[in-house]
This record gives sequence, structure tokens and C-alpha cells, in this order.
Amino acid sequence: MTQLNLKVLGSNAKSNQVVFLAKLEALQESKLLKDYQKASILADGKEKKFHFRDESGNLFVYIADESEEKCRKQGNQLFSSLSSLKLTEWAIYLEANEERNYAFIEGLKLSSYSFDKYKSSKVDKSYEIYLSGLSEENLAEINSLCKANFTARTLVNEPHSFLNANQYSKEITQLGQEFGFSVKVLNKAAIQEHKMGGVLAVNKGSIQEPTFNILEYKGSNACNNKPIVLVGKGVMYDTGGLSLKPTPGSMDLMKSDMAGSAAVVGAFCAIASQKLPIHVIGLIPATDNRPGLDAVVPGDVITMMSGKSVEVLNTDAEGRLILADALHYAKQYEPEFVIDLATLTGAAARAIGSQGIVCMGNASESFKNSLKESGLAVHERLVEFPLWEEYEAMIKSDIADIKNIGGAAAGATTAGLFLQHFVDYPWMHLDIAGAAFLTSTDSYRGKNGTGVGVRLIYNFIKKRTQLNGTF
Ligand code: BES
Ligand code: MG
Ligand code: ZN
Repeated sequence: MTQLNLKVLGSNAKSNQVVFLAKLEALQESKLLKDYQKASILADGKEKKFHFRDESGNLFVYIADESEEKCRKQGNQLFSSLSSLKLTEWAIYLEANEERNYAFIEGLKLSSYSFDKYKSSKVDKSYEIYLSGLSEENLAEINSLCKANFTARTLVNEPHSFLNANQYSKEITQLGQEFGFSVKVLNKAAIQEHKMGGVLAVNKGSIQEPTFNILEYKGSNACNNKPIVLVGKGVMYDTGGLSLKPTPGSMDLMKSDMAGSAAVVGAFCAIASQKLPIHVIGLIPATDNRPGLDAVVPGDVITMMSGKSVEVLNTDAEGRLILADALHYAKQYEPEFVIDLATLTGAAARAIGSQGIVCMGNASESFKNSLKESGLAVHERLVEFPLWEEYEAMIKSDIADIKNIGGAAAGATTAGLFLQHFVDYPWMHLDIAGAAFLTSTDSYRGKNGTGVGVRLIYNFIKKRTQLNGTF
């Protein structure tokens, strides 16, 4: 892992080299800059060079006056240059506005993730970076958010040979101790007592037991009377069960099927380390989905925790079964609202690809708009899909209350409609199937687990703490 130690540049901080990030005017005014002319040419963008070094070895970075996302990407470009510049200590003078400075450093830091636990040779580099132009507070937030995002990425990147449901509960418990939230783990016997028929049905073909994880964080002076509940799909590995998935490009990526729950864990890490004044509960049903000897067979009817009967016609539509029990479980908290995150459908991934999240729900327009604004702010963008009741007909069952698959069309919507049967509170469902796991590198999001959802949920919950009432 590359360590980027970001610190606010104090007056007495020593640094060998200088990175200067500024607009043209700022470059010209700066006392640091000796070679004004060269900088001017570069800074007005004509040479379209990202950075250059002057005779004294100082490095100058030009950042265009553009979107925050562009700044994050430029942060990523700087990260790529760090190793070739062979310097371990830097000062970065940020002279754009606070938002763009934030985005640039966020992009830089988010780029430093790597997962080499199973590699014989490990990346072991460390950079000291002193910053001006960013408050202590904002820097602490960037550090917290990146750490939380990396935690989610690592949980996704861990193979199932290590991270089964039981190990996952241990990891979440440990993270709770480290970051400051409580974790209660229900084992199989407790899950049976609660009659969580969806979780038990998905787990039936596995020799490994399921867990149901309850996370709780209550900041002092929590601003909400009713808790906010975050639900995450924790399918530790999705073989499809007896409705087995093909291997290449499908089952072989399915260690990532717990990415929704990893985002919930990551969001808890960020919220707790920033000590937000909020009360949040996290619910994570965890199991693998396997075609073992006693596996649920297509055509079986199961009874969910809510009492609803479900005809399981495709064992690969397992996520909605475990989420339904968690969504039902959430009712006891009389939540202000519930957001679930899940790698739920290939249909959502096919519809919008890896650059966004499909969302749907029964929450108010103002709530939805605020969530979408958070999506734009952190560049984890949301696209709303309908929950039109006409499609309910597609999940009607001949012999049970509902069935767990719709038809060839509107697959993300029929999954959402299924979940809606188990909620009685304001709710949004985020299908992150496309954005959770990348098979090729994409700037600061990197490759493999992206930790998508962590920055989004943090941004949204933080916004809630700044409101007087609800959205
Ligand atoms: N985990 C998958 C969804 C998925 C697909 C996530 C691709 C990430 C990338 C989910 O459990 C699943 O198998 N869904 C089925 C549902 C279908 C059988 C109704 C799907 O989308 O094919
Ligand atoms: Mg599946
Ligand atoms: Zn799945």
C-alpha cells in the first residue's frame, strides 16, 4: 500500500520541493515562483501540460478552473506522477477554492489504494505531503472518508476463501471497536428464532452458517429522534445456487456480492470517526449462495420473517430474499428513513454501466432530490428507475403471495417492487451492481472494489445533521 500522509502545512514545516496548484493570477503573484514566463505559458493551458519543473527543482501543477470531478481526476494524475518524481516529501500549495482543493486532495488520496495482502512482494511507499489551502477540519474529513472507502474496497476485494459470513462478522466487530460503533451479531440459531425465512432459504445450500449483523452508532447530541437505518446486501459469494451462474465474467466476480453491505460498514466508519451527531442503525444479513445438497430448489415456497410467502423460481435472485428480512426487521426501529444498498441486479448494471447507481423508492420528492444532489456532489450519481405498480403483475405467483423473479423486462424495477412489499417507512433502494466492482482501472476509483456508496451515504447523512427537520 502507498501511504500518503497528508498534513496541514505549518509555518515551520520543512519540505524539499514544492507543488504549486493555482490559477494563472495566483502563479504570477506567488513569491515561490521564479520562472514566471514559463509558468504563464503553461498555466494558460496552451501547452496542455499537467506539470513541469523549474530550474530549482520545484514542481508546478496547473489545475484548470473546472468541475470538482475534474479536480479529483487531476489528483489522480498527480498520484501517478509521484513515484516517477522520486521525492518523498512535498508541499502542495492549493490556491483554487476550498471545494476544488478538497476534491483535488480527495482524488489524490483515493488513488493511493492497493490490495496486496496476497502478493509476495508488497508496495511499501510513503509520502509526506504538507498542504496549504485546506482547513485542518477538511483534511481530517478527507482522511476519514478515504480510510472508510478503503475499508469497503478491501472487504469487497477479500476472496470468499477468507471472508465468509462468520469472518465478516468478526471483521465488522473489530471495525466497530476501532472506529467507535457497536456491533451485535445474530448467529444461525438466533436467525431461526427470528424466523428469517429469506436468509435461511438462501443459506440452505451452504455448509457455512449465516449471520445477521446489527450495527449502531449514536453520536452525542444526535439530531434525529427516530433512527436512520442502512441495510446492506451481504451475499458473501453468489454462485447463483441451483440456478447456477456461468463462470467467466459472471460467477467469477461474485465475491463482490457483499459490496452493498461493505458500503454500509464503510459509511459507519466514516460517520463514527467524524463523530456526526446522528443515530444510525446498520442491518447486514450475510450468507453465501450455494447449490449444496439441501439447497432451495426452483419452485420451493418459503415464508419470510414478515409472514409473506414467496415462491422461489430462480435461486439466483437471492439478494432480495435476504434484504426483505432485513427491511422487515428495520420496522421495529420506527425509522426516520431506510436506505438499502445492494448489488442486486444485472439488469441495473446493463442499463447504466459502471458510472452510476440505479435508485428507486417511496420516499418524498424532496428526499430523493437531496439524495441525488449528494450523488452529484461526490460523483456517485443516481438514476431513478420507476416502481410502477403495473409491473406488480410480473411478480404475482400462482401459489404464493409473490415470486422472486419478474420477467425479461424491467429486472431492476421488479426487484425493487419485491423489496417494497417489506417496507412501511420512507425508503430508498440503491442498486449498485454496475459501480461496485470494476474490471479495469478508472482514475481514482481504481480497479476491483470501488467502495461506492460510502462517500454518498456520508455526504447525505452529514447533510441531514445540518437540517433542522427531515428532508
Ligand atoms: N448478484 C447478482 C446481481 C449482479 C449481477 C451483481 C452482475 C453484480 C453484477 C444477483 O444476485 C443476481 O444474480 N441477479 C439476477 C436476478 C435474476 C435471476 C432475476 C440477475 O440479475 O441476473
Ligand atoms: Mg444472484
Ligand atoms: Zn447476488
